[in-house]
Amino acid sequence: PRIEPFVDPLPVLQYRTAGGELVAANARHRFHRDLAVSDTAGFGGQSYLGPVLEAHRDQPVTQTFRNELTAHPLARHLDPTIHGASLLDRSRPRMSIHLHGGLTEPGSDGHPLASTRAGQTRVHHYDGDQEAAGLWYHDHAMGITRLNVYAGLAGHYLLRDDWDTGASSNPLGLPAGEFELPLVLQDKIFAQDGTLQFRLATYVQEGKWEGGQAGDVPVVNGIAYPFHEVARGLYRLRLLNGSNLRAMMLSFSNGMPFWLVGTDAGLVNAPVRLDRIRLSPGERADVLVDFGSLPAGTRVQLRNTDRLPAQFLIAVGDARIRDLMEFRVGAARGFTGPVPERLRGGPGLPPALPPNEKATRVRNMTVMQLPDGRRFPPAVMSLNNLGFDTEDVEQVQTGTVEQWNIINLTTDDHPIHLHLPLIRVLGRQRFSTLAYIFRNPRPGFGRRWAPSADRYRLGAMAGPQAWEAGWKDTVYAPPGVITRMLVRWPTAEELGFDPDAPFAVPSSVETGAPGVNAQPTAVCRLSTGTQPEPDRARGYVWHCHVLDHEDHDMMLPVRVSAS
Ligand code: C2O
Ligand code: CU
Repeated sequence: PRIEPFVDPLPVLQYRTAGGELVAANARHRFHRDLAVSDTAGFGGQSYLGPVLEAHRDQPVTQTFRNELTAHPLARHLDPTIHGASLLDRSRPRMSIHLHGGLTEPGSDGHPLASTRAGQTRVHHYDGDQEAAGLWYHDHAMGITRLNVYAGLAGHYLLRDDWDTGASSNPLGLPAGEFELPLVLQDKIFAQDGTLQFRLATYVQEGKWEGGQAGDVPVVNGIAYPFHEVARGLYRLRLLNGSNLRAMMLSFSNGMPFWLVGTDAGLVNAPVRLDRIRLSPGERADVLVDFGSLPAGTRVQLRNTDRLPAQFLIAVGDARIRDLMEFRVGAARGFTGPVPERLRGGPGLPPALPPNEKATRVRNMTVMQLPDGRRFPPAVMSLNNLGFDTEDVEQVQTGTVEQWNIINLTTDDHPIHLHLPLIRVLGRQRFSTLAYIFRNPRPGFGRRWAPSADRYRLGAMAGPQAWEAGWKDTVYAPPGVITRMLVRWPTAEELGFDPDAPFAVPSSVETGAPGVNAQPTAVCRLSTGTQPEPDRARGYVWHCHVLDHEDHDMMLPVRVSAS
């Protein structure tokens, strides 16, 4: 369908104090004036996405998520043969809500197996004992995360502190109130009749796992190509890439600079002047933009200049998305404060970020795509040649600093996300994937395969990007590259809870009734079953944040023990 850009206003997301009950329910939502109404899901009565939840550091939050989803808005795209999914998810979808970036006790973390079904609630405790940051909450249910988030189950979660108060007189001088704009950036695909579609690809069987949803229509806060009237002044954009697969290289159409003030895990030491920033799915950026020097009447588009790899052209007509939304500069004076000189490490400022510590242990981790013998294209995504059911679980100790080398053997980008630790990008280095694969015969699926790639290095290591100047929780790992990152596991004291405490998973939910799966799970050769043994619902996970990848099966468990 033809979609006229910049005719619908940007929905200004509603703020709500975190805590209490938030209901997830089916909804009907129109993504654009020129589109039809689509089946979606939302939180708190919204027809798409959820409210911006606000919380204050060290003020514990009890957040209940209630599942009232009666039918899956994307039921016909559900693949009951992949790990964790069943046909019951079509009529009574599971959900498990994860606070991405939260230092959360295991039973409240939204573990993929700790899901609820219609009529059930799950209570999450967030103690808020961590740096103020732009977190987000989203569904994480095993095997259907890609469909649940695409349908709308996501939202911002802004954790404040005494410096970043979000009030208009905040000590750091950051724009607040109407001058702070949380933006959820996504891409969608729409059918000819104007309804929301999931992966219109013709080369995969419907109802089977589809390797990655990419769309050709940009959607911001649930509206395609919105516009927003801005005052002449400084704005604080809380950017979140909430797409399933698409990474974005963002800039403004007039080339104007902007300032990075925060990464995934909070404020950086000093604003970093940028003219572009790359955000993969799951990554956030806290940026300041100055519309104050532009004459009233100016129109500026927020633009993406990245494009998908060519193979996606089969699935979507155009691998590119260019303009996402338009800012229209009005005559009114806005927030006139200057861009702060420093954000940390000075009088009246939060403490500076600590220098990088030395890693005491190196873990090599492979990112790979394997044939699964049944599907076309024949692929399952894997980490370390293991599936989620593996017995070979990563064991880490609280308070340790590790170096993880993400060895990407595939031809795609994979944004790597770890639950719990803070991450610093050390650098990226190309290597010969062919030499690596040739010299290191891979054992059968299910046996760890992650030898060092250091002998196959090509060229020097490139340092972190300018926009990776702080702590992160999600890191872009490009193909044919070793992405080296420092992983700082919180200390037992910082946690204040037992990170290895077992937690309850309602068995009626997870295992379903016998016979629920139309096809025996053995059909999916690489996932050995949907019956989780009790011990699997324990600890944390690390995974690729391409939602289609984490669903099948690019996600592994992590057990954290207090030393
Ligand atoms: Cu944003 Cu484990 O997820
Ligand atoms: Cu991936």
